[in-house]
Amino acid sequence: MIRVVFVCLGNICRSPMAEGMFKFHVEKSGLGQSFFIDSAGTADYHIGKQPDDRMCKTAKDRGVLLVHSARQFKSNDLAEFDYVIPMDDQNFENVKKLETALNGSKAQIILMRNFDTIEKGSIVPDPYYGGDEGFVEVYEILNRSTQNLLNYLIEKHQLK
Ligand code: 4NP
Repeated sequence: MIRVVFVCLGNICRSPMAEGMFKFHVEKSGLGQSFFIDSAGTADYHIGKQPDDRMCKTAKDRGVLLVHSARQFKSNDLAEFDYVIPMDDQNFENVKKLETALNGSKAQIILMRNFDTIEKGSIVPDPYYGGDEGFVEVYEILNRSTQNLLNYLIEKHQLK
């Protein structure tokens, strides 16, 4: 079982979208049994909340259901997950600080857009304070990046 957690700030927009999109690609590939997939936020603002209505609608209009209650990312996640995938540099740094405090971890911490084909290595922009187009952009980035992440893991772990 390969354990993957997507990480953003609030855990109500980008990382639940990444979780839902990655699950969508995993199910389509028939690899549901090979993965445990989750998401978390480095901030504690929205603990227990459902994903943002605007993110849910953008996803649902494209056939993807978001089912998640927001939770905060904890040091323990670095022990429990094989892959920690932050959405931007701030959240990457937040996760790295926790890892340093633990004196390291076995988890691979890799920025989401390292798996993108467009603007590889850049960030998934925070859509929270912007308009609807920002949510569509997040969907498009995550549709590509999570498919590429899955292809990478299939190859790396010889899943097919
Ligand atoms: P997320 O978006 O990190 O993609 O879930 C945000 C949600 C809430 C806030 C910031 C970003 N906030 O400041 O409340």
